Amino acid sequence: MDHTAAPVLEALDAYRSHGRLAFTPPGHKQARGADEQARRVLGDAVFHSDVLASGGLDDRRTRGHILERAEELMADAVHADHTFFTTCGSSLSVKAAMLSVAGPHEQFLIGRDAHKSVVSGLILCGIDPVWVDPQWDAERGLAHPPSVQAYEEAFERHPRARGALVTSPTPYGTAADLAALADVCHARGLPLIVDEAWGAHLPFHPDLPAWAMDAGADVCVTSIHKMGSGLEQGSVFHLRGDLIDPATLTSRADLLGTTSPSVLIYAGLDGWRRQMRLHGHELLDAALDLAYDARRAIEKIPGLHVYGTEELTGHGRAAALDPLPITIDVRDLGTTGYRVADWLRARRSLDVHIADHRRIVAQLTHADSAATVAALLDGLRDVVAHRDELRDAPTVAVPEPADLRLEQAMLPRDAYFGPVEQVPLDRSPGRIAAEMATPYPPGIPTVLPGERINEPVAEYLRTGIAAGMNIPDVADTSLRTIRVVAEEA
Ligand SMILES: Cc1ncc(COP(=O)(O)O)c(C=O)c1O
Repeated sequence: MDHTAAPVLEALDAYRSHGRLAFTPPGHKQARGADEQARRVLGDAVFHSDVLASGGLDDRRTRGHILERAEELMADAVHADHTFFTTCGSSLSVKAAMLSVAGPHEQFLIGRDAHKSVVSGLILCGIDPVWVDPQWDAERGLAHPPSVQAYEEAFERHPRARGALVTSPTPYGTAADLAALADVCHARGLPLIVDEAWGAHLPFHPDLPAWAMDAGADVCVTSIHKMGSGLEQGSVFHLRGDLIDPATLTSRADLLGTTSPSVLIYAGLDGWRRQMRLHGHELLDAALDLAYDARRAIEKIPGLHVYGTEELTGHGRAAALDPLPITIDVRDLGTTGYRVADWLRARRSLDVHIADHRRIVAQLTHADSAATVAALLDGLRDVVAHRDELRDAPTVAVPEPADLRLEQAMLPRDAYFGPVEQVPLDRSPGRIAAEMATPYPPGIPTVLPGERINEPVAEYLRTGIAAGMNIPDVADTSLRTIRVVAEEA
């Protein structure tokens, strides 16, 4: 296929050169009706490219097949049979994928380190989750994707399960053994879905962890805006093989999606595919070199420690590591990742991706350069020089791995939609949660609907909030109270 083509970008160019006049949404009509400051800050180019997908970019019956051609090029670039673009993030893509495999009351294997969008899919659809334990690194308090053996055992215990979902890589960059997992599923004639939201770049460089489509997965879901250069909310899902019907997948996405997709986002996906297919290898080569240099330099800063491949991979840990997200342990500074992240933002205008009780994660991509890494290193040296300002951070009571795995006492959907009550957090142990409580980022629920809360987890949430953890999805964001299934229910 001709990967120098970019059908969406070319059609946008043609839209403008034809001087099309729209008597349709969007109502700003090529920026003319937009707020002055919005025009100045965003630039008119944003409004010029914000046109209807059908009846604008393409004709009313999409006879130009513009989106279809862009999707075919993407599929070809990443070794998939079909690719679907969506403009509602991987939050939509992963739900569409799950709902193509399991329906109400059907069992489905899911790693318990799944993102909250997966849990939303369970709630909406009434799927009966069979949780597969991640591999816990108790020393570091960090979860890696579940082992192949854990999936194998879960299938043996739940032979009626309709398939499996794994998150790989995790937001910390650790990856599962996808080829072996695909074999476990395919030996039973069942599909493997990979939530590869953090893996947009993986198809384009051999030194990165295996890409799901190459490893034999049936569907994989990717946020092009996370590790790629698409615009926020730009996501794709890819399909291979014949275990999932493409029409079913399209129908599930249609059920959840918008009828007003953003052409801007489609254009970002189209441009990313061309850029990576033509230049991905050299861009990622440079990014990997930069990441290895950055890792070595950060490791030399006293008080900071970078987790490397030797610590995160191997038996009982992950199968591979993506070096671009750099996980930095700040425990020796006598403070938390929350405090370090807040200090870097306030004092150095640097934003890191994840902050937790003992770490920050600085994400590099192909867009970084020696200059951006130098700014990161300067900021990190500065924060270490000011370590005294960060001391006496409240401690987070991180539960033992076994305590983190709560009993799933009810179906997530039943707990969420049934009668609920709000109880003080310290009286919640023993009660069944009716809402998600998710530290964000990275967005993995600590508690989800239907799980029975225990004392260590309630204490983790209480001390976490006091230390600076962000839990935006609970009804009471102070977490003095939590929503649980009403007693009589
Ligand atoms: C593993 C994982 N899956 C899915 C999502 C949802 O992706 P999006 O933000 O594109 O909706 C995220 C977001 O952080 C994620 O970390």
